[in-house]
Amino acid sequence: MYRTAPHGFALRASPLEGGVTPREGQELPFVVIACFDPYVISTNISIQTKMVQTNGTNFLDSQSALEELKNYSCRDGLSATDLMDSKLHGGLTYNDFLVLPGFIDFPANAVSLESKFTKKIKLHAPFVSSPMDTVTETEMAVNMALLGGIGVIHHNCSVEDQAEMVRKVKKYENGFITDPVVLSPNHTVKDVRQIKENQGFSGIPITDTGKLHGKLVGIVSSRDIQFHGTDSTPLSEVMTKEVVTGKEGITLEEANQMLRQSKKGKLPVVDKDGNLRALLSRSDLMKNLHFPNASKDPETKQLLVSAAIGTRPDDRERLRKLVDAGLDVVILDSSQGNSVFQLEMVKWIKQEFKKLEVIAGNVVTREQAANLIAAGADGLRIGMGSGAACITQEVMACGRPQATAVFNVSQFAAKFGVPCIADGGISSIGDAVKALAMGASTAMMGRILAATSESPGQTVVRDGIRLKAYRGMGSLAAMDHRSSASADNAGLARYFSEGDKVRVAQGVSGLVAEKGSLREFLPYFIAGLQHSMQDIGVKSLDILRENVINGVIRFELRSSAALREGDVHGFYSYEKKLY
Ligand code: IMP
Repeated sequence: MYRTAPHGFALRASPLEGGVTPREGQELPFVVIACFDPYVISTNISIQTKMVQTNGTNFLDSQSALEELKNYSCRDGLSATDLMDSKLHGGLTYNDFLVLPGFIDFPANAVSLESKFTKKIKLHAPFVSSPMDTVTETEMAVNMALLGGIGVIHHNCSVEDQAEMVRKVKKYENGFITDPVVLSPNHTVKDVRQIKENQGFSGIPITDTGKLHGKLVGIVSSRDIQFHGTDSTPLSEVMTKEVVTGKEGITLEEANQMLRQSKKGKLPVVDKDGNLRALLSRSDLMKNLHFPNASKDPETKQLLVSAAIGTRPDDRERLRKLVDAGLDVVILDSSQGNSVFQLEMVKWIKQEFKKLEVIAGNVVTREQAANLIAAGADGLRIGMGSGAACITQEVMACGRPQATAVFNVSQFAAKFGVPCIADGGISSIGDAVKALAMGASTAMMGRILAATSESPGQTVVRDGIRLKAYRGMGSLAAMDHRSSASADNAGLARYFSEGDKVRVAQGVSGLVAEKGSLREFLPYFIAGLQHSMQDIGVKSLDILRENVINGVIRFELRSSAALREGDVHGFYSYEKKLY
């Protein structure tokens, strides 16, 4: 039905134009249609149109529905290239478009989410936690890796502290809590009740110093304080002093066996002098036994961990210590990564640490990316101004709408086999799907992970709502942190140059509503992503990216009315519970 015409126009038979219904076997004239799509379904195909008559009206035979599709010059919806045509649509954010559904012939749990984090490292789940001091420290990094993603430890701290966090992740054994909440015998029943209320657990080991590494003198469980009316009673009066303990070096299996026999909820692990080294929780253990998708070094079986650094001379020393602690991937943390400092740092790292993978960024244009790729980056981080706590676009006038940035940079980087992280602005599973569809290999998240119990910092309760702090690394609060030693300040390193005297904030600080453990949140995100991929009709992220580029997966722009339609509407009141 098509003939190729000059200037990219397709020649098409007219039956569908103007509602004219053809007679069976009718010779059809050709008309020129003004649709040029590089992904035309087919050319030069002649379709036999079979007609049927119903109640005196001619219709195409339903059996020819699939054949009839070939009469269209392009698939329904827009190709990614057309969608991302900035001349027509400007820069797009995730909210500006939708992915059109495809064909389902597999269950959602058959969808593989395996994706590259760097040239050499693959993850089972394409999720990364941001290097921010309210997002990623040991606990977040351990749990992200256990669940198949990876955590990037922030550098708003001393070299020693950052290296210690890296070491703890590498030394982590499933199930052992290496920094449990500990109290002293002088703490009171009220303290335990508060911990239970804010953090949701009891079963607290008591040491003489009230700290980890102090001598274990007892344990307090909810049963110990359940019927104890007085808040002010010291724990020395209610704690259980006969404690079943495991000896340092105990394996998970042995510990599990002990917990089963003792019928206790917690097993403190002590060294030969009786000092508390770790804690094992029955409920954690049950969950921890199987993490088949954990991100591990195939040789050492240790969890994978990443950490961020700046590009100042001191950062070279910092990196040595992190590598000594077992670091797998370093991220050069800058809001504008296309700098001579970063190029030199990438080259130096590639020379100095042959096994270490280095991710450079942030970038939002092909030109920025090209420099870093040429310097030897094993991955790129994309995003400028899209983060939830970010005011860079407002203050610096620099940046790019995130979906457009991800599309342009990752399509370019893909030519060199360099995986990209879509960093910032992910506030739902749908955003992550769109980031991956635009070509990113992984999605980096800050705000939504800051809201989990594994992020650093205490939960506070206000008006009955559990809240946690979240702040941009370019916020004044983050930049003032340890400001006396500017080499240890990630905010300054990321957002400012040597010798800057006046600080200009590029981020805000505030509170986010807590949503429970990452152990529930990330599996929800992973399952949601699998369901979305099923709707799109692709069984793996590789196929997703491939089919976006070859034009099989299609998109639609959203008008502001479409945005409203896609949101809940028409209720007097409703509850939005996601998992
Ligand atoms: P979110 O997931 O939308 O919260 O975005 C997280 C990302 O925001 C981080 O990974 C950083 O790239 C970026 N970011 C962190 N702090 C700041 C800031 O202060 N200003 C601008 N961007 C920031």
